[in-house]
Amino acid sequence: MAIPEEIINEIKYKNDIETVMAPYVALKRRGKNLVGLCPFHNEKTPSFTVYPDNGSFYCFGCGVGGDVFSFVRQIENLDYIDAVKLLAERSGIALPQDGYDDSMQKLKTTIFEINRETAKFYHNYLMSPEGKWALDYLTGRGLSVATIKHFGLGAAPDGWDNLIKHLKGLGYSIPDMIQANVIGKSQRGTYYDRFRKRVMFPIINIRGKVIGFSGRAMPGEDKMGGKYVNTSDTPVYKKSDNLFGMNFAKNHCDERIILVEGNMDVISLHQAGFENAVAALGTAFTEEQAKLLSRYTNEIVLIMDSDEAGQKAARRASNILQNTGINIRVVLLPEGKDPDEFIKKNGAPRFEALLLGAVSEIEYKLLAAVNGIDISVEDGKVKYLNKAAEIIAESNDIITRDIYIGKLSEKYGISRTAIKDKVEEIRKSNHRRRDKREFEEMVHPRFEKTDVNPEKRMYPAAVAAEETVIAILMQHPDFYETAIERLKPENMLTAVNRRIYKFICECIQSGRNPDLSYFGEALSPAEMGYLSALANSEKGDKNALIVLKDSIKVILDEGLRKTENPKDMSTDDWAQNLQKIIESKQKGK
Ligand code: CTP
Ligand code: MN
Repeated sequence: MAIPEEIINEIKYKNDIETVMAPYVALKRRGKNLVGLCPFHNEKTPSFTVYPDNGSFYCFGCGVGGDVFSFVRQIENLDYIDAVKLLAERSGIALPQDGYDDSMQKLKTTIFEINRETAKFYHNYLMSPEGKWALDYLTGRGLSVATIKHFGLGAAPDGWDNLIKHLKGLGYSIPDMIQANVIGKSQRGTYYDRFRKRVMFPIINIRGKVIGFSGRAMPGEDKMGGKYVNTSDTPVYKKSDNLFGMNFAKNHCDERIILVEGNMDVISLHQAGFENAVAALGTAFTEEQAKLLSRYTNEIVLIMDSDEAGQKAARRASNILQNTGINIRVVLLPEGKDPDEFIKKNGAPRFEALLLGAVSEIEYKLLAAVNGIDISVEDGKVKYLNKAAEIIAESNDIITRDIYIGKLSEKYGISRTAIKDKVEEIRKSNHRRRDKREFEEMVHPRFEKTDVNPEKRMYPAAVAAEETVIAILMQHPDFYETAIERLKPENMLTAVNRRIYKFICECIQSGRNPDLSYFGEALSPAEMGYLSALANSEKGDKNALIVLKDSIKVILDEGLRKTENPKDMSTDDWAQNLQKIIESKQKGK
């Protein structure tokens, strides 16, 4: 399970924490450290601190912290091993194949293989004489053979077990095929190919691996299973985290990424030279997808179908994207068209013109807000203007607000001041609400700092001393002998610190420096935050050796008191005692 320490060190060395964080947090230098707005909680003043000296970070607002692995792990929602892998790949370091491979890792590897073989199988079938029906369909929709190959498109033959037989022939087991979700199990207990008589779109992640499939039925044959059948979530695929076409778009996104609805739209656009198009995979647009996009680009152009569903999708996507700080523009397509149809009919230059004419998000929202309101009557007009004022109030730029206030005033013959007052009124109440929310988050942060060491309340002074000992040893491992002579791990009063101290001792004893990365696998993310705070605290700055000895004394004294004085109790004792008191009172009654 464990990845060799030299490799962890090399990965850490090659992935300097500032560079890794850059796409997620804007950092400013402050002394020898860097600070920024914490990406893990909402805040107005920066309390997220990065310590380049030891490659760690800590947020004084929410308590999140650790090293570069902890950061990637939490920001990308990965487990420890996957965070290590991601950074290894990022810096071109090969991980040894075994030694760390656990069963989940093996399963994922197998699923990737099954997916690749399945994609090959579908593609070869599409290109074979038997697959002519599907190739005819795709070329009939205007796709060139080059495009088909570029996207690795394929076709699933008609029949229940073509793929099963093929994969069996390659030596894959039925349970693994089920895990990859390329086959299903019927109620009668038989197995069947999930995709039959469909054109197949492999879904490829940003690292170029086939993670799933989207299968489209032939026209008029979508009764069984619907027009599209998609891979359900598997150990390697979560559809809410991925975007179709992102594997290509990530290399063409300097200026912007175009977000459309359908796979066919993406493919058509790529063929026409717009290789920066991606689509949400048949899901409502998600925050994870927004995060993925925000790593690659500063501007999104949303192109949604002009139908009601498309409008709704556009509103949702723009709301979610707003939180990422990406610039958003929206293209309104002419009635009844999707980008695929539009570009086929009108060609690339007209599509380009459409992109140039993409309206700002606020303009789009003002246009869309008219939907369902009859503005030819007074009532409707009032309703619309109130809605419009709310939209304008969302902008934090006074000039932008002024421009749109002017436009509305002109268009609807209402005085500027009236609209302006309304907008300011809304902004004030929004502010109050936001302040309240930020306050709430401060009181109940996502990462409860005190949760890491719940025993702290019982021995506040001793725990502070424990923390000092840990902090000093993290910063001055050369004091180890002094510490261990006086204080054994079992002398630590609280469980977390006992565990951390034990690790530190083991680490130093084996001749290493207690770097945060040494703890990455053993400690929980919250505990890493706790340790990072200690490692970067000022506790070891002055008179460290004296402070260390004093702190140890405080811990030992408290420990003695605890054993001598039965009134000083551990949590369990305390609970038992409480129980006794309750019982005696009940008896007394
Ligand atoms: N979709 C889906 N399941 C459905 C319908 C749609 O997953 N039953 C997803 C697909 O990813 C599809 C997208 O939603 O690409 C948009 O749907 P739609 O506009 O209906 O499909 P198009 O991409 O336009 O497909 P086509 O042009 O082939 O009709
Ligand atoms: Mn379409």
